[in-house]
Amino acid sequence: MLKLNCKYADYRIIGEEHGLKLDEEFNNYSEKIAEIIRNLNQRKDKPNEWLQWMNLGYNEETAWYVKEFASLVEGRFENVLILGIGGSALGALALTEALLKPYWNFLTPEQRNNFPRIFFLDNIDPDSINGLLDVLDLKKTLVNVITKSGDTAETMSQFMVIKDLMEKALGADYRKNIIATTDKKMGILRQLADQEGYKIFYVPDDIGGRFSVFSSVGLVPFALVGLNIDKMINGIKDIDLALKNTDIHQNIAAQFALIHYLMDTKKGKNITVLMPYSSRLKYIPDWYVQLIAESLGKAVNKNGENVNAGLTPVKALGASDQHTKLQLFNEGPNDKVITFIRVGEFDTNLEIPRIFEYTGIGYLGGKTINDLMNAEADSTMVSLSDNQRPVLTLSIDKIDEYNMAQLIYMLEVQTAIAGELYNINTFDQPGVEQVKNYMYALMGRAGFDGSAEYLHEKLNAEITM
Ligand code: PA5
Repeated sequence: MLKLNCKYADYRIIGEEHGLKLDEEFNNYSEKIAEIIRNLNQRKDKPNEWLQWMNLGYNEETAWYVKEFASLVEGRFENVLILGIGGSALGALALTEALLKPYWNFLTPEQRNNFPRIFFLDNIDPDSINGLLDVLDLKKTLVNVITKSGDTAETMSQFMVIKDLMEKALGADYRKNIIATTDKKMGILRQLADQEGYKIFYVPDDIGGRFSVFSSVGLVPFALVGLNIDKMINGIKDIDLALKNTDIHQNIAAQFALIHYLMDTKKGKNITVLMPYSSRLKYIPDWYVQLIAESLGKAVNKNGENVNAGLTPVKALGASDQHTKLQLFNEGPNDKVITFIRVGEFDTNLEIPRIFEYTGIGYLGGKTINDLMNAEADSTMVSLSDNQRPVLTLSIDKIDEYNMAQLIYMLEVQTAIAGELYNINTFDQPGVEQVKNYMYALMGRAGFDGSAEYLHEKLNAEITM
């Protein structure tokens, strides 16, 4: 089971100026937290609350349907290509990187148990799109275009390029190589998929992109590459009760959220760093960055007051970033809460041979790379706490579907709790919509031309220097 160690955020370890009186704070906030958790659980089944992701641990029907499709296409494709952006790509990207064998796309089909390679196009860089198309044989590729709204320009433009090429390469059969994951009722992709006859998976109502990884958005890619989605669902189910516990002393999501909220509002630490000590987890912080940034960065609170709330999320990777960011973390502004993710047991126990015994690196011989990774994390934690920097540690027993699902789900739940503490709407993203509308105006989309003149004026504005 996922664990949280928060003692390195406590004043008894890092001092009163920067540490929290966790025992007192947990008691002070126990009623507020209980009320938030009760309220979230009361609202979770109601329409327009955007809390349906809290039910995804019980979504056996979708899991069954997804597995059925995966087994139907098993062995047919060399590659799976995911087209999506933001919440429609990051969760699946982060979890496939964590859960598949390292360097998956470089392994032979036998080493991959004949499951396909997986590629993500989550940006619109023309060179990298073109470059990827040089690598993939589209005839042997299953394209999964994922967009809840069904009209995101980045995703749909990629799709238009690729669909055209697929039709040229495959003739009428190209349709069998495309699946669409989108909203049940709304959006252009939904209409197109119907007209064209693509297989469709639905993103359930009231689940935003950044909370959608355990819906068909993530489950389809996971099943296609042979990951065990039942284990993921079981992981969520097994931790769900603990995360619904209204007693903050028993609820690590509530603790995680409250510590960040208090560190921000009382100690001026509004930067949250996520730093896994595992290369396989290196994209988990990318997913976390979106989750935190889009959910908590809000201009106004629920009462309409201007608050400009938010934590600035920063990604890091242990041990690599000990050689890049740690200097700043240790000695720069004390404005961060740093969360380590530690892995109890790696799949591999890699011994360092006893060579170069009579040199300065001789001490490494006979130890394991695992020992070294643990020593790196331990020493960084102590050194950060020497410098009065708060550190939280999330520990998972091992990297597998069960444990990773618990980690991701806990981070989602804590984000919802944090949003309530800040009294903001966790589930909208008006700052993203504004940019989308400007971009539509610049690209000449009908109905969005109102701001075109203003945009051109601002883009061409000149000032004398
Ligand atoms: O979290 C979110 O809601 C966003 O990041 C969306 O996932 C992203 O904008 C992509 O949207 P869509 O799935 O509609 O293409």
